[in-house]
Amino acid sequence: MKRFTTAAVTLAASTLFAATAFASGEDIFKAKCMACHPDGGNIMKKEKTLKGKDLAANKLNNTKALVKYMRNPGPGMTRFDAKALPDKDAKAVAEYILKTFK
Ligand code: HEC
Repeated sequence: MKRFTTAAVTLAASTLFAATAFASGEDIFKAKCMACHPDGGNIMKKEKTLKGKDLAANKLNNTKALVKYMRNPGPGMTRFDAKALPDKDAKAVAEYILKTFK
């Protein structure tokens, strides 16, 4: 797990420098979520992916619900409070998820 996280952070950091000075939803996803959700999947709970069908089944298929979920996630997931992930960043990640994993 630790190795995955380090790789994800390194990857996000290099994307950051290459692309823009601001962290995009994609950058944040790669840094904070991808270790457990590679390709929008879920390495711990395979039925709870970030893909449209699962999100819809769990009423998480909109930005507001996703941000709320990050603040108060299910068992096994890291909790991201407003300090770990400010609203602006949480929204950017949510939008990235909704448009990327179909
Ligand atoms: C340490 C591993 C881990 C990390 C890091 C992590 N998650 Fe999760 N995530 C999980 C697990 C485990 C679940 C399933 C929880 C449950 O059983 O309800 C989950 C579930 C979810 C779900 C619900 C999916 C569904 O279909 O119901 C969303 C949305 C989600 N994560 C988003 C994120 C986002 C966004 C991030 C990064 C900001 C993130 N996760 C980081 C482990 C993780």
